[in-house]
Amino acid sequence: MAMQLTAEQQHMLDGGKGEAFAKVMKTLVMYGETFGATEMVPVTSAKGHLVTSFGLSVMKPVYGLMDQLIEAGAISQQPFSVDPKPLDKNVPSNLLQNIFFKVMYSKQDDYDAQLKKLGIISDKSYTCTCYMDEVGNVPNKGDVLSWAESSAVVYANSVLGARCNRNSGILELFGSIAGCVPYFGLLTDEGRKATWIIEVKTSKKPEAQVLGSTIGMKVMEDVPYIKGLDAWIGTELNQDTRDFLKDMGAATASNGAVGLYHIENLTPEAVEQKEALIAENAQVYVIDDAELARVQASYPCIWKDQSAAPKLCFIGCPHLSVNQLHSWTQRLIDALKKQGRQKVAVPTVFTAAPGVLEVFEKTDDYQKLKKAGVVVSYICPLMYMNNPLCGKMPVITNSNKLRTYTSARYYTDAEILQRISGEVR
Ligand code: F3S
Repeated sequence: MAMQLTAEQQHMLDGGKGEAFAKVMKTLVMYGETFGATEMVPVTSAKGHLVTSFGLSVMKPVYGLMDQLIEAGAISQQPFSVDPKPLDKNVPSNLLQNIFFKVMYSKQDDYDAQLKKLGIISDKSYTCTCYMDEVGNVPNKGDVLSWAESSAVVYANSVLGARCNRNSGILELFGSIAGCVPYFGLLTDEGRKATWIIEVKTSKKPEAQVLGSTIGMKVMEDVPYIKGLDAWIGTELNQDTRDFLKDMGAATASNGAVGLYHIENLTPEAVEQKEALIAENAQVYVIDDAELARVQASYPCIWKDQSAAPKLCFIGCPHLSVNQLHSWTQRLIDALKKQGRQKVAVPTVFTAAPGVLEVFEKTDDYQKLKKAGVVVSYICPLMYMNNPLCGKMPVITNSNKLRTYTSARYYTDAEILQRISGEVR
């Protein structure tokens, strides 16, 4: 093999720790060689994160694989968090959907038990926003990670300055088991250089989800260096800014395949290295109001009846922060008041991490939301929607990731507010 391994890694590959470890290492070596890596580097973060959180009945090979790993003692060297669960009985669904969910996710309990044996942090560790303080899986700057969840990878790389490739599910678990990952791409200084300069020249603060989608669809898997955005979101990584970057990043990662972005005067590497981060001959893309409007108008709506009244609204993909839950509550209560309404006009679900909900549920705003008829939940809206029954429902969302992967229709925050408050049907 072309890859230079340490004695310990070679020992594992040669079967010194048993067949399961050998297969794990062989897979990582093959993965690395595909991308031109010549060595492995240690995973240095305290915790891992897995993307596969759902007990889909059709994923039999995954459960068999997990069993083999557990039997062989090939468990994660780091405790890990996992993406959100697919089901919550509090989220509106009809009888048929409930039966369908039960069959579709019939392996959920078994799979949860496997995750326990493999090293999940706790029952509350199911979320895509594992990097929030309330969840407690916050990598340090410079940490090497073995994660796969695209919205978490782009956040960890860009906002926290950790280093992680856009791995796939299972491969990220293998990196956590072996304790090393192939060294290429976003782990390297060279791979973290920007090959695009994005010039934000809008007349107002851009919508995070539309800006992210616009950038993602242009640069795809490349690294952008974004100029002009600090004029709208500031030069301090406070909670509002982090929330904006979370949502923008998830859209760059799902509408394109961005794993890292730099923002002039704001994100850690851009603050330190400034334009030295920009590769020679970087291409330039100017984003103004017209470009954002063009991109938003290009989103297809695949509802059968384009004028159907929405039956459900999801807010919180990626999961909301405590700050965002409060902000949405205040905006919603004000909007309902203006319409003379007590309750939302469209069944609405706000999603957030279990740890975030635990904090929020102790506040007055939670009671206000409940009174307004809003459900708060820990689920992944994508998992809820990704089946033929829910796919036919007219669902609206402010998430560009959910729009991309399902039949949900995208609206900006302001447009969503108009609909759930009853101002616009
Ligand atoms: Fe998170 Fe599920 Fe959206 S994993 S980013 S809530 S698709």
